[in-house]
Amino acid sequence: MTPELINAGTERMTAYRKKILAGPVADTAAGGTMSVGRAHKASELDLAHGRILYLEDVSVSFDGFKAINQLSLDIAPGELRCIIGPNGAGKTTMMDIITGKTRPDEGTVYFGSTINLLRYSEPEIAAMGIGRKFQKPTVFEKLTVFENLELALKTKKDWISSVRFKLDSAQRDRLADVLETIHLAQQVNRQAGELSHGQKQWLEIGMLLMQEPRVLLLDEPVAGMTDVETERTAELLLRLKGKHCLIVVEHDMSFIKAISDIVTVLCDGAVLAQGSLSQVSADERVIESYLGR
Ligand SMILES: Nc1ncnc2c1ncn2[C@@H]1O[C@H](COP(=O)(O)OP(=O)(O)O)[C@@H](O)[C@H]1O
Ligand SMILES: [Mg+2]
Repeated sequence: MTPELINAGTERMTAYRKKILAGPVADTAAGGTMSVGRAHKASELDLAHGRILYLEDVSVSFDGFKAINQLSLDIAPGELRCIIGPNGAGKTTMMDIITGKTRPDEGTVYFGSTINLLRYSEPEIAAMGIGRKFQKPTVFEKLTVFENLELALKTKKDWISSVRFKLDSAQRDRLADVLETIHLAQQVNRQAGELSHGQKQWLEIGMLLMQEPRVLLLDEPVAGMTDVETERTAELLLRLKGKHCLIVVEHDMSFIKAISDIVTVLCDGAVLAQGSLSQVSADERVIESYLGR
């Protein structure tokens, strides 16, 4: 690791943090412009009603096409929810709505019972504890596994502190924990660019875990993985379940079988069926529109 590489990584993170901290953002959720307040802390999350995420009658159209059509979802804290469905069903758009990337035309989206997510910007929602793993791994290839995890840590909210940032002992413990969880303890000093595709995916999950998210959204996490990597990813998610709420979109049905409790089938932007994997697999409409015979 050269100082140039460390600096390059630090600069990218600093630019990113500055962007996040650029102040209140005006948004146009649900038709009106509103000014966005301070982001809630995860500790303010109200789980009294047994739900961590709640969507009701959410719709969004792109150029007149209804990508999400009166979608409702109710997710419990610590739940591992699998979302399946044909291409174009609206699975990624659903994640875009939860994370603030896309604003719905109608409907409500709540984090816990009291936090209206439609009032917050994408970075604010991430800072509240809703982490997202996109399909493609986005790790810092030139940095080591350790440095990637270190950079992912929440630090003081000014960039001078983030440049001078040093891990405290609790953070070091967390980093060691995460390394074990993502099966990369042996690779800690390797450059991320040298890792296999599956290991990069785990590293990115690890970077999200460093931020102690309440909810993790994973979009096709095992796409492109070997069978062994897929199995290890299933173990990893099962271990995270309970501590974090996980929402997993996948096409790999053996993977879904290994991890699923409740499966939601999306089709044409709405819930087509929901239940255990064996229940939804036996549903005629699901067979017709997605699983085939
Ligand atoms: N930003 C966008 N602009 C226009 N159309 C979009 C946009 N995002 C998604 N769509 C359309 O919405 C539908 C649902 O897409 P998507 O959520 O990506 O489905 P899935 O992830 O289930 O395959 C698709 O028809 C897609 O082309
Ligand atoms: Mg998708």
